[in-house]
Amino acid sequence: MSKKIVVIPGDGIGGEITDAATAVLRKAAQKHSIDLEFETHHAGGAAIDLYGIPLPDSTIEAARQADAVLLGAVGGPKWDNVAPDIRPEKAILGLRKALGLYANLRPVRVPASLSEYSPLKPEIVSDTDVLIVRELTGGIYFGEKCEATVVDGVEQAWDIEVYSVPEVTRIVALACQAAKLRRGKVVSVDKANVLASSRLWRRTADKVAQDHADVELSHMYVDNCAMQLALAPKNFDVIVTSNLFGDILSDEAAVLGGSIGMMPSASMGEGTGLYEPIHGSAPDIAGKGIANPIGTILSAAMLLRHSLNEEAAAASIESAVDKVLAEGYRTADLYRAGLTKVSTGEMTRLIENNI
Ligand code: IPM
Ligand code: MN
Repeated sequence: MSKKIVVIPGDGIGGEITDAATAVLRKAAQKHSIDLEFETHHAGGAAIDLYGIPLPDSTIEAARQADAVLLGAVGGPKWDNVAPDIRPEKAILGLRKALGLYANLRPVRVPASLSEYSPLKPEIVSDTDVLIVRELTGGIYFGEKCEATVVDGVEQAWDIEVYSVPEVTRIVALACQAAKLRRGKVVSVDKANVLASSRLWRRTADKVAQDHADVELSHMYVDNCAMQLALAPKNFDVIVTSNLFGDILSDEAAVLGGSIGMMPSASMGEGTGLYEPIHGSAPDIAGKGIANPIGTILSAAMLLRHSLNEEAAAASIESAVDKVLAEGYRTADLYRAGLTKVSTGEMTRLIENNI
């Protein structure tokens, strides 16, 4: 029986990188006798241009019916001035909510071979292996908000951070499960010295940890965590945190390896899983054939692993990526003298040929 993958290219470099990942997926599927069917749908700026809204019902429906969704990136200067409720980013947020994707997994690995690309010293980043588990359908992203109000003659805007015990319980439990397959350590990140929502988060995390005796749970304030990620990233195994803190910390962690272009992510929860690189649509380099497709290609590997249960095919993509990097091929973002600079398409072909 064939598995249906909904591909949402989005905007900017989105089309180039989802084409790359689809080509690699086809190759891995063929090698591992997996029957895949692809269907393209629109979201983000592309959907605003076509339908006047960033997330048409047809895209949500297709995603619900699919076995997995592969997304490129959304947004760009063209839509910077549209009304807040139809911004391209609403497409991603709406999809996460519609599919009940409450958990976002962002693995950050810096193999010794890539540590020289890091803005930090190789000895600090080399062999870093952190999994950031970001809560994805709650917190300040989805709390009540007010775009503009006037209080005592002064214009204001506000956003509310809300977390409930069940929301924190399920994400911390998922982080504990993930830690069991790794080094068994979870750091729960909050701002419990200031925020009430963080104090509830911390209490709840402690309760969840009681059910996972083989996992070592500790707590860290988000400001300290941001510092520790730069000082001693190797000390982390699994980080679990709220939507906003996870958004910020994962961008910080992504550059440990030198380029945000390499970082995949998986969003999972109640319904269809969604897989996307953590970088944006990079409108400045769109259409030039120079984008790094690896973040999306590694997201496709996560798709095979988590949504289709095809571990061997997933691993074959990951080792092909490692091999091509070890052979010295780099897209422009990671290029250095002495290596071989390749385009998006060339990088894709090289990875395909190593599967
Ligand atoms: C991410 C992105 C999104 C987020 C934006 C595009 C809404 O930055 O996936 O990290 O903030 O979650
Ligand atoms: Mn982000």
